[in-house]
Amino acid sequence: MTTLPKPRQPELKTSLPGPKTAAIMERDSQHLSTSYMRPYPFVPDHGEGVWLTDVDGNTMLDFFAGIAVSTTGHAHPHVVRAVQEQVTRFTHVCLTDYPQEITTSLAERMVRHVEKPGEKWRVFFGNSGAEAVEAAVKLARNHTGRSHIISTIGSFHGRTYGAITLTGSKTKYKRGFGPLLPNVSHVPYPNPFRPPLGATAGTCGQAVIDHIEGLFQTIIPADEVAAIIIEPMQGEGGYIVPPADFLPKLRSLCDRHGIMLIFDEVQAGMGRSGKMYSFQHFDGQNGMNCQPDIITVAKGIASGMPISAMLAKESVMTWPVGSHGSTYGGNPVAAAAAHATLDLLEGVVKHSGCGDSLMENAAQVGEFIMAELKAMQAEFPFIGDVRGAGMFIGLEFVTPDGRPDGKLRDAASMAMFERGLLNLDCGEAVIRISPPLILTREEAATGLEIMRDALRALK
Ligand SMILES: Cc1ncc(COP(=O)(O)O)c(C=O)c1O
Repeated sequence: MTTLPKPRQPELKTSLPGPKTAAIMERDSQHLSTSYMRPYPFVPDHGEGVWLTDVDGNTMLDFFAGIAVSTTGHAHPHVVRAVQEQVTRFTHVCLTDYPQEITTSLAERMVRHVEKPGEKWRVFFGNSGAEAVEAAVKLARNHTGRSHIISTIGSFHGRTYGAITLTGSKTKYKRGFGPLLPNVSHVPYPNPFRPPLGATAGTCGQAVIDHIEGLFQTIIPADEVAAIIIEPMQGEGGYIVPPADFLPKLRSLCDRHGIMLIFDEVQAGMGRSGKMYSFQHFDGQNGMNCQPDIITVAKGIASGMPISAMLAKESVMTWPVGSHGSTYGGNPVAAAAAHATLDLLEGVVKHSGCGDSLMENAAQVGEFIMAELKAMQAEFPFIGDVRGAGMFIGLEFVTPDGRPDGKLRDAASMAMFERGLLNLDCGEAVIRISPPLILTREEAATGLEIMRDALRALK
């Protein structure tokens, strides 16, 4: 059983960055790619649970988990043990050519969370979210014999050529990199807080469906569309939850036209939303189904070890032997970390203070955080919206007339950091709260107190 570090209150840092942090950041700025972003000065030295200590000895509460990756926190003993054991056996053979039991059993375990009676799924393993997305799109094209892909505005799918083409969140990901993949179109994402297409919060799901059907009449022949790829809860675009009727209606639209439905669960999946996959919040509700044909996962799957997966219905995974592969994909050490992560997510191994499973903890502590943040809206009118599910939570900052306030968001993010809370922005004016799923209610309360204090300082 794990012993958790006691909740503590980080102190206000008035002299950030510390000298060691500053020195490393200076070397970093000299030698690393000019494309890396540095939202605030932080250089980690070691971590324990939900706490990260920097090279100058400042201990920070982690509310972003390396962009929704560190599911089990930092240096979780169960994950560390699994990795150590596998490293002493073998670290690489190449899954494309030889099976290895640890990845076979990982695939068996992952499909159990999506398979329905009479339906079998298969898994392709890669190393990153973008690779899972590439695999999904290649499979959809190969299976359907069609080429067109529809994605959404606000989406993020990764940095490879296919993935940046699909991405619709910021032009900086594409500027200067063209030409991109042909035959890709973007449609609005049904954001209930800022409904597109002149719709309302309640009608924006149907409005997007009508918009796509309109495109099929005017611009894109439906029988040339291989797939629609969408994040069931949009991450980088602003931590947005679509209206409940939308994904089932999108499933029906795909069925009507023989189009593959791909759910990109890279950010919201693996228990973060309180269910294994975020689409499962909508599947089976009111008798409506929205099971996709293909799912991509990465990030939270292995507590930070690099592995990703593309899951597809057996009837869809028809590409021939040798048509796709990866030298490192499904690496056994990363697979061991994924098994250990799943042990904790499913509750096969318990983490003390986190109920029956980390998935349950994500749902319960996430609900607590959301309720507290909604209560804070009364004190801070510039918090325009609080939304999410489980520990996938977005906080949108607005101007007095309701427009996104990115400047205020940036100031809030820095004020939180200075008080010891690691956080990350997304969308135009959103702070995402995506802590490790081992976060207890007490630790969550500590983080919320820091947020409140930082927001008061802004006023
Ligand atoms: C939804 C989604 N898909 C794909 C990716 C790309 O993942 P990676 O950076 O591992 O390639 C991300 C990364 O943020 C993501 O959020």
